Amino acid sequence: MTQITALNKAVEEIRQQVIEWRRYLHQHPELSFQEEKTAQFVYDTLLSFGNLEVTRPAGNSVMARLIGPKPGKVLAMRADMDGLAITEENTFDFISKNPGVMHACGHDGHTSMLLGTAKILSGMKDKIRGEVRFFFQHAEEIYPGGAEEMVQAGVMDGVDLVIGTHLWSTMEYGTVGICPGPMMAAPDTFWITVFGKGGHAALPHQTIDSIAVAAQVVTNLQHIVSRNTDPLDNLVLSVTKFTGGTTHNVIPGSVEICGTVRSFDKNVRETVPKLMERVIKGITEAHGATYEFRYEFGYRPVINDAEVTQLMEDVVVEALGAEWVDRMRPNMGGEDFSAFQQKAPGCFFFVGAGNQAKGIAYPHHHPRFTIDEDALEVGVKMFVHAARKVVMDNA
Ligand code: NI
Repeated sequence: MTQITALNKAVEEIRQQVIEWRRYLHQHPELSFQEEKTAQFVYDTLLSFGNLEVTRPAGNSVMARLIGPKPGKVLAMRADMDGLAITEENTFDFISKNPGVMHACGHDGHTSMLLGTAKILSGMKDKIRGEVRFFFQHAEEIYPGGAEEMVQAGVMDGVDLVIGTHLWSTMEYGTVGICPGPMMAAPDTFWITVFGKGGHAALPHQTIDSIAVAAQVVTNLQHIVSRNTDPLDNLVLSVTKFTGGTTHNVIPGSVEICGTVRSFDKNVRETVPKLMERVIKGITEAHGATYEFRYEFGYRPVINDAEVTQLMEDVVVEALGAEWVDRMRPNMGGEDFSAFQQKAPGCFFFVGAGNQAKGIAYPHHHPRFTIDEDALEVGVKMFVHAARKVVMDNA
């Protein structure tokens, strides 16, 4: 039996265990920065495997180190563990037992896949040349995120390459999404308040109509993407909240606006808030209104290293078959996996977890989101075969 076949068999043997972990975690979701019980479960489970140095580096994160007998590269693998403030509407028998909280992004699956990987590899310690480091990260969903805290705590010290994955329900089971270079955008957030002068709706000339001015601000912000930046640069500017007023005959004194900006390029990213302020200032001044503007830079973009990405594509071909490779396009979602990529070359990849035939097609963060559990095995295979290629003696 080749090493590839042996590893695939090892994954298939713990398949049911990985599904059970996922279902347990799915029933017990916790919000970002509150993953105490999840972290304890992961910590205890890792300790039960033996051969691992298990620590709690920062916040609710857990790290396990599998250090082989011979020197070699250090390969880090990351899973995130947090759930979302969503009331689950699924009807299967392992739905969330924590009201108002749900694993609606598949992080339960990520955690169970990495536990499965740690279980298999910890049983092969004598074959490891170098080290495998397992990151169970808290708080991916909420900025400033858990990844940065882990990096600050030094988890990336000595790491040569880092990989991570996301199960993806809008990609069909049977695919692994590979994307060299820019893959996921930098998600930034803005808040604007337009201050006018409130008054009677029948006497608009005695007011400064904050709604009319704010509406123009929103309209003119659209020019930043369509007219002020290079069409070949990827950029999104979405206004997602517009709040003002109380009733039909009162012009409100102020309107609150907020939204998100997504980009890949550093220069584009740094230019956008300046362009926004120019528009906001110009429009409000033109109408005698004033404003407050706050802009927060979020996670860095996920930029995949060419070599590590090629390695992961080779993993797909060798472990699953060439027909599994989906050369996916980048998307404008955000991911704090990028924090690890600041310290070592890395690759983030998607594992197709949707299944139209089984009715598994709801998008991420939807109350009926779920994954095809067959995809869990795919994720474990990706991780163990990456270890085979980077830190194992090829028998
Ligand atoms: Ni997610």
